[in-house]
Amino acid sequence: MKESVQNPNGILSFAAPYRGKFIVCVCELLLSGAANIAAYLVVADIFTKIFADTPLTSAYILFAAGLALIFMLIKNGFEYLGLDHSHGVAFSILADLRQALAQKLLKIPMGSVRKRGHGEIKKNFVDNVEEMEVILAHMIPEGIGNITSLVVAIIALFLISFKMALGLMGVILIGMTAFMLMFIQGVKKMKAYYAASKSMNNNIIDYINGMEVIKVFNQTATSYKKYSDSVSDFKIYTADWAKSSWKYTAVYKVIMTSPLLFVLPVGLTLYTGGRLTIGALVLSAILALSMGGPLLRLMSFAPSVAILREKSAHITAILKEEELSQSSKPKIPEHYDIDISDLYFAYTDKNVLEDIRLSFPQNTLTALVGESGAGKTTLARLLMRFWEYQTGEIRIGGICLKDIPFDHLMQCISYVSQDNFLFRMSIGENIRIGKPDATQEEIIKAAKAACCHDFIMEAPQGYDTVVTASGATLSGGERQRVTIARAIIKNAPIIILDEATSFTDPENEDKLQEALNKLISGKTVIVIAHRLSTIVHADQIVVLDNGKVHKTGKHLELIQTSEIYRHLWNAHENIAGWSIAVGGDTE
Ligand SMILES: Nc1ncnc2c1ncn2[C@@H]1O[C@H](COP(=O)(O)OP(=O)(O)OP(=O)(O)O)[C@@H](O)[C@H]1O
Ligand SMILES: [Mg+2]
Repeated sequence: MKESVQNPNGILSFAAPYRGKFIVCVCELLLSGAANIAAYLVVADIFTKIFADTPLTSAYILFAAGLALIFMLIKNGFEYLGLDHSHGVAFSILADLRQALAQKLLKIPMGSVRKRGHGEIKKNFVDNVEEMEVILAHMIPEGIGNITSLVVAIIALFLISFKMALGLMGVILIGMTAFMLMFIQGVKKMKAYYAASKSMNNNIIDYINGMEVIKVFNQTATSYKKYSDSVSDFKIYTADWAKSSWKYTAVYKVIMTSPLLFVLPVGLTLYTGGRLTIGALVLSAILALSMGGPLLRLMSFAPSVAILREKSAHITAILKEEELSQSSKPKIPEHYDIDISDLYFAYTDKNVLEDIRLSFPQNTLTALVGESGAGKTTLARLLMRFWEYQTGEIRIGGICLKDIPFDHLMQCISYVSQDNFLFRMSIGENIRIGKPDATQEEIIKAAKAACCHDFIMEAPQGYDTVVTASGATLSGGERQRVTIARAIIKNAPIIILDEATSFTDPENEDKLQEALNKLISGKTVIVIAHRLSTIVHADQIVVLDNGKVHKTGKHLELIQTSEIYRHLWNAHENIAGWSIAVGGDTE
């Protein structure tokens, strides 16, 4: 990956690798501008001759018209080439930016990702990056081309008549003042406008993700209201912004589009006073005509500068987000015992884990149990560096987590999380994420081990059946088993299963347990379970209570010594009893 992508100092650093191509675009657009002025000069010559009553020979008409046509073709040809190339460069830079953002999200703690909300992150990836196209494909190359042709036209006007040019500059100044007033109004309103847009984006994502809840609970007065409020807020801020700048926009647009209206009276006065030749008058009028387009185009870029500064600040803020620290002397573990010492962790200010000291030896299965909210998932997340712990240490094979290269750490761990995320792609591809070079046979083998082959074969396109991101085409248990197949195929030395079999029916659970038992031999396995029957044979059971290690031991030992474990076990037994009762045997 390019250097600028790895160390971004603002968005424009992403353009650095394309400097050469940019210069080519600018030259093409400059040539286009020069050809444009040349065409106007030919037209000026024709009209000068007409107004001076010079007889026009057909050879001259043919020559002049042909020349003007050639210049116009050159103008349009180079404009096409310049914009074609500038768009090629711009789209490459946008792709680099999106890649850099995606890479960055992998390198920062999950907490930094979540605090932004899905809507804001999507807006940065899609909309904000897309807006950079204006600056890269248009503003820089076209801006340079337009400024050059304007400067040439103004210098020519000054050479023809100082007074006329000065008058025109005065009028342009009035136009620019109106423009600046509009701009200042816009900048004042921009922060509120973007805050409203960010809030609307996050609420739209919440609204879509929470659609089932909104429907079931008929949340018209709460969640839905939150969404509709943010939509109407956004409308208010947008209208407010537009309204505050309309009057200035009208003034500057009228002035900037018609420099001819100001050049003509002065020019005619000078001509009738005998201080300007007919040729100079026609040339001035044509030059004034040629200025309207570039002036307006340049002005149109100015608000983009402010908008882009705001948007690029959002993108840059993500790119500059502090990354998970990486050791300058990375080490690779040679075995996979996990040791945790004096570990403390807080998501915000309250400790969620306190004084954790644990060992998970290789070739053993450790179960983490505890009430909901005890900190089980948090401990698993820290093992994968999804969040950074504040104090204490976690070591794998005797090596501190921070000294293990992040990529390697991810290769070492197979993780089945509580939320069973499936990507919007085929079931086969979802399993293949665990091992990108897996053959179809390996995928089927993993699916069979995770007890999902049968239902996959019943799906309309078998392994090629596409699941939606929310997995709506599969049941909760089916989704869970596909994620287990993904972990099985990865075959990593450390396995963490967070409630991995909680949705599984008893018939499949035995088979799945058998597959997991095969998978875990020789490995370091951590199982988080609410259904305690699945972990009675664990080598070690860790009881977490309110973020602290309450007790560790084996099932029978804990039943006798730990009140909390006994309580959890009894609760589990009661639930098991309930399901028998529901099955018909009420006694
Ligand atoms: N992203 C987060 N930000 C802030 N607090 C969090 C976050 N995730 C979890 N917590 C809090 O940390 C505590 C431990 O949560 P954790 O998810 O680790 O519990 P758990 O033991 O896995 O519970 P469960 O059995 O319900 O899955 C809870 O009080 C929870 O509210
Ligand atoms: Mg949990």
